[in-house]
Amino acid sequence: MWFYLAAFLGLYFLLKWYREKQILSNLTDKYVFITGCDSGFGNLLARQLDTRGLHVLAGCLTQQGAEKLKEATSERLKTVLLDVTSTESVARATEWVKSIVKDKGLWGLVNNAGISVPTAPNEWLTKEDFRKIIDINLLGVVDVTIHMLPLLRKAKGRIVNVASVMGRISFFGGGYCPSKYGVEAFSDSLRLETSSFGVKVCIIEPGYFKTAVTDPKNFADHFNSLWERMPREAKQAYGESYYQGMLRGSRQVQDQCSSNLSLVTNCMEHALTAVYPRTRYSAGLDAKLFYIPASYMPTRLMDLILGWNYPKPEQNN
Ligand SMILES: *[C@@H]1O[C@H](CO)[C@@H](O)[C@H](O)[C@H]1NC(C)=O
Ligand SMILES: *[C@@H]1O[C@H](CO)[C@@H](O)[C@H](O)[C@H]1NC(C)=O
Repeated sequence: MWFYLAAFLGLYFLLKWYREKQILSNLTDKYVFITGCDSGFGNLLARQLDTRGLHVLAGCLTQQGAEKLKEATSERLKTVLLDVTSTESVARATEWVKSIVKDKGLWGLVNNAGISVPTAPNEWLTKEDFRKIIDINLLGVVDVTIHMLPLLRKAKGRIVNVASVMGRISFFGGGYCPSKYGVEAFSDSLRLETSSFGVKVCIIEPGYFKTAVTDPKNFADHFNSLWERMPREAKQAYGESYYQGMLRGSRQVQDQCSSNLSLVTNCMEHALTAVYPRTRYSAGLDAKLFYIPASYMPTRLMDLILGWNYPKPEQNN
């Protein structure tokens, strides 16, 4: 009985491996638009796909980011300035893409642009603070996708949305986790709608990686100004030691981060170039071994484990 089980499992994994190994031919015919190519995953993916011979259309927030990327890549790669929070900018980028891909359509859209600050305990923040993150991380993804869909439909292409393990499990305040939960929800309904057009939707769920998103200085600067602006009553309730604990926590984040960004960009590349892409990709050992399994655990258990390290307020009457 065990023998048959082992043989069955072995066969299953072998077939799965073989199926996932199939890569599309004609990669050099394909156009891929990526948002957030100034640094991090987007920047690395743009260079990686350029090396593979795809036509990369890179959306950058800054002129400087665009120029640096162009210097590091082939003539094929083209850049456009894109601010995903501005519908005007998104519409302009869409027209630009259309003028390049023409009748071929767009093979790939990678919604990668994202930020992670201001992040702090929810009470320290305002609605505006939440809006800043959600505007980029969620509404930016929605806006770019809606604009590009006609081009993607033409090519029966792929949409690759960068969510996060924080789209599966939420243990710090602010707009980041809600924005990533939103990306998961948006991608799931979109997948059902676009599959009849032959357009596939893939979700990338990275763990902690060393990018601007996890830069401890960025977190610390925001903690400082948020703490300063808090009313005295709230400051007393949390206490100085809570604030120090949050600062320490944000510095420790960096120690947990993997610096091998290609673990993430390889998932993106697979989603864009495999004959049978996956619906979800988890990237990084922390994602695979802790965060994704944790998302299936009972809430009570996870609250206990995650609450362990949380700073404790001084006034907990
Ligand atoms: C690949 O490209 C060649 C030349 O452009 C074309 O003849 C062929 O039909 C393409 N194959 C597929 C599967 O699209
Ligand atoms: C990064 O990850 C890739 C993919 O697993 C691996 O091939 C490569 O060796 C890793 N690089 C480093 C520096 O660990």
